[in-house]
This record gives sequence, structure tokens and C-alpha cells, in this order.
Amino acid sequence: MDLIVAGNRAELRKAREVAGPGRYALVPTMGALHEGHRSLIRLAGERAEHVVVSIFVNPLQFGPNEDFSRYPRTFDADLAVCEQEGVRAVFAPSAADMYLPDRQVAVSAGAMGTVVEGAFRPGHFDGVLTVVLKLFNLVQPDLAIFGQKDAQQLALIRRMVADLDVPVEIVAAPTVREPDGLALSSRNRYLSARERVTALELSRALRAGAVQREPARIRQAARAVLEEAARLDPPLLLDYLALVDPASFTDVGEGYRRQAVLAVAAKVGTTRLIDNMVLDLG
Ligand code: PAF
Repeated sequence: MDLIVAGNRAELRKAREVAGPGRYALVPTMGALHEGHRSLIRLAGERAEHVVVSIFVNPLQFGPNEDFSRYPRTFDADLAVCEQEGVRAVFAPSAADMYLPDRQVAVSAGAMGTVVEGAFRPGHFDGVLTVVLKLFNLVQPDLAIFGQKDAQQLALIRRMVADLDVPVEIVAAPTVREPDGLALSSRNRYLSARERVTALELSRALRAGAVQREPARIRQAARAVLEEAARLDPPLLLDYLALVDPASFTDVGEGYRRQAVLAVAAKVGTTRLIDNMVLDLG
């Protein structure tokens, strides 16, 4: 079946009529699709008859000094990926189609949106939740797939769905990595060859933490790698290293015996990267 491309909400409604009945899975993206997105799409295809991919670089989730204007936009290549992966419909609205000029109401991520990643990107998670809820309302999927790579985003979307009784099942997909450990990200394409070498220290730090069992030792082992990486050329400039509960994103203390997320964010050159690993401390 041919890929349907819907550029606005009217076309999306039509696309759903054409696609017909069955379970719908939504894969929300900002485009610049890579192997990680392909894995989300494939997981969606295993869970539902129809896969809808949304491609929308959401201005609401970028801060004033962030990379909204230079965020990679590769629409034709993205459509080719969707076609190859058997996606039923792509929903690619414009900002004007998504947001009324006098919009007033938005979703608040609450206190959980202000810690860890949220402490460095004020308002980011409010912007993410607002667009995700709008996409859910427009596409009306049965389920939606999100990458574990954005662990706090995933946790907050689960929270939103629970707190606001949103009838969409949230499915997490594992992080996809390059063979040398670098987590796939649309922002990796900003990295020069030398910056990429430094960026590898993010996943190296997580692996160093992951072999420990006690929270203090986990943090210490990961931090040691990051401190060395700060002396490289170009250096890794750490924003945070956090060991948190996967659902609440609060710090875990000694004696903690469940799953925890070891999360890191750093800048290499002008590129800000995040990564995390889920550790089983049980
Ligand atoms: O993870 C992303 O690409 C974005 O945050 C999302 C979920 C598509 C919302 O804009």
C-alpha cells in the first residue's frame, strides 16, 4: 500500500478513512530519521495494523538559545525511510497548523519537568507534553512508541497518560547504538570526527557505572570517566550525571534495590548530547 502523506489535520482525517479500521500505532518524531527511528517504526508495526509517523520540529520544546533553527530537516529522506519501513501514513503539519496564534492552554510537566534534564532546559518538557497530547488527540492512536534514549521524556509521557487519563498505551523501545557505543541521535550529525571521539565518553561513562551495584560507586565510576573526558581536546563539558528512579526521576540513595536510570548530558563543541542506561540494582 502506498504511503499517505498528510500535511494538515484535514488530510490526516482523510488518511485515517483511507487506511480503514484496525489498531493504530503512532511514532512521534521530529524527522531526521535514523536507524533508531527505524527500530521504533518496526516495533510499532509488530504491535498494530497501521503505523503513523509524525514529523514535526516542535518549536515549543526548544529554548531561545537552543538549536530549533538549525535542527536537521530531511523531509524527503524521511519519507523514503517511512516508505521502506511500510509506514501507512506520515503526518507532517506546519507550526501554523499545529498551534493557534492566540493559544493559551498547555500541558505542565509539573515538578518532575524541572529536574535532571528539565533543570537545564526550562519549559522543554511542557513543550514536549503539549505537542504529544495534541498528536494523540489528532491521530487517535491505540498505542505510541517512544525511545528509552529520552528516558525522562518517556517517564513524563507515562505520567501524563496516567494523570490525565489519556487512552493511549505507551510502549518503550530500547536505545540503538553505533557499534562503538554512541547512542543514535539526530544531533550526532553535528559532530566533527574529533568531537565524535570525545562524545564516545558518554556511553563509556555509563558502562563504567553499570558494572557497579551501589549508587555511590555507580556515580563515582561514571564521574571518573567524565572527569577524564573533560581534559580531552575537544573536551566533554558535563551538564549532569544523575542516578534516578525511572518513574519519578528522583535521586536514588544507598541500599536502593530496584531499576534505576543512570543519565548523562554533556556538550561537545556546540552539540549537546544525552544518553542513559537502565541499571537493575535488584
Ligand atoms: O523525541 C522527540 O523526537 C520529540 O521530543 C517528540 C516526542 C517527537 C515531541 O516533539
